[in-house]
Amino acid sequence: MLNDFTFHNPTKIYFGRTAFSHLPEALSAFGPRILLVYGKGAIKRIGLYDLVIRTLSACGKEVYELSGVSPNPRYTEVLSGAEIVREKKIDLILAVGGGSVIDCAKAISVAAYCEGDAWQKYWEELRPLENEVVPVASILTMAGTGSEMNACAVITNEAEGIKEAREFPPEVCPRFSILNPEFTYTVPKYQMASGIFDILSHLMEQYFSDEDDNTSDYLMEGLMESLIRSSRVALREPTNYEARSNIMWCATMAINSVTSVSKTQDWEVHAIEHQLGAYTDCAHGAGLAAISIPYYRHIFRDGLARFVRFATRIFGVSAEGRDPASVAAEGIDRLRDFVIELSLPLSLRDLGATKEMLPRIADTVELGGAYRFLSREEILMILQEAYDAK
Ligand code: NZQ
Ligand code: ZN
Repeated sequence: MLNDFTFHNPTKIYFGRTAFSHLPEALSAFGPRILLVYGKGAIKRIGLYDLVIRTLSACGKEVYELSGVSPNPRYTEVLSGAEIVREKKIDLILAVGGGSVIDCAKAISVAAYCEGDAWQKYWEELRPLENEVVPVASILTMAGTGSEMNACAVITNEAEGIKEAREFPPEVCPRFSILNPEFTYTVPKYQMASGIFDILSHLMEQYFSDEDDNTSDYLMEGLMESLIRSSRVALREPTNYEARSNIMWCATMAINSVTSVSKTQDWEVHAIEHQLGAYTDCAHGAGLAAISIPYYRHIFRDGLARFVRFATRIFGVSAEGRDPASVAAEGIDRLRDFVIELSLPLSLRDLGATKEMLPRIADTVELGGAYRFLSREEILMILQEAYDAK
């Protein structure tokens, strides 16, 4: 653990089949006015909406609603929610849904009492949070982003054609999150696979950095092993509780700051995907899968020892008597096989991208990288390879 760190994560987690029964006790710490934020209807179809409304009214809460939040939530939706918060003097924003809904709730929380334009201040200029935030809590229905236990909000500004992630201070983390793996049984297979790759990508973004001996890397290897194992079970048997609960906890642990301590981290695959998402509106994890393979093929020689460790420990590639570069490359081939196992597309063509979009996407990607800092030209090459992939 060579880099010093401060760890602080204030989210209280209620996990498991009985997690929802803790809602009244969790709500008792907050005032009566609740803004319920949810997506385009999944929570109504699975009966969760009725359950939440019944529980809130039994607790004597006054409920206001922001419905129809888009996958890849829009800044305009954030502004609509912020207006309700101010008008109704909301005490708690309760997000019920996946990462998009929770991110939108966090963005509403910071935007509601922001003087001036919140987008410009917090997502563009990355200014320190300077206004009051409204408490957020979540009931999670889809495993993937880890938004249920972190302070990040990823928002798309359609007018500017930009999708931007912002990591806020811990006070923006959900105060509590309810995680019942059974709520994820109805997630369509494509979304489930997208969520699974998102989890793996969060781990790889942290794992593929630095060369020191760091406990965080061992934790991530364990999470990756568990995730891949449980994913294979859940793909065959979507209602296997053991597998779905492991996936859900892997998602939370992969990006709640536990595994990132003392790590430099990369996040360039995410930077590229966020811009791809701004142009195509593709499912986040599916975009990550298509970009990861060419990205890692570009950089593995710069972090060779770590890519060899990944190949051998995560995918069981044999290194005996072999050239390290071929071992590392085989690890990336195995990662590609896993994308195929998840039935996710390998090509950006299948995610709605056109050839003409690629230079524009490359222009807006924030440049970075852990083992190597990538130029705009190299990002364009990666996008082209991801576009042509079969
Ligand atoms: O809109 P609804 O009706 O809610 O339907 C959703 C949506 O269509 C559906 N769904 C969710 N739970 C369901 C369900 N359908 C049936 N049964 C259920 N139980 O699934 C679809 C996708 O939902 P969404 O919330 O968009 O997915 P996800 O959780 O993958 O969130 C993606 C967003 O999170 C951001 C992504 O960029 C993207 O905008 N991220 C947030 C991060 C964070 N806060 O830390 C980190 C990630 O890297 C990521 O960037
Ligand atoms: Zn992600």
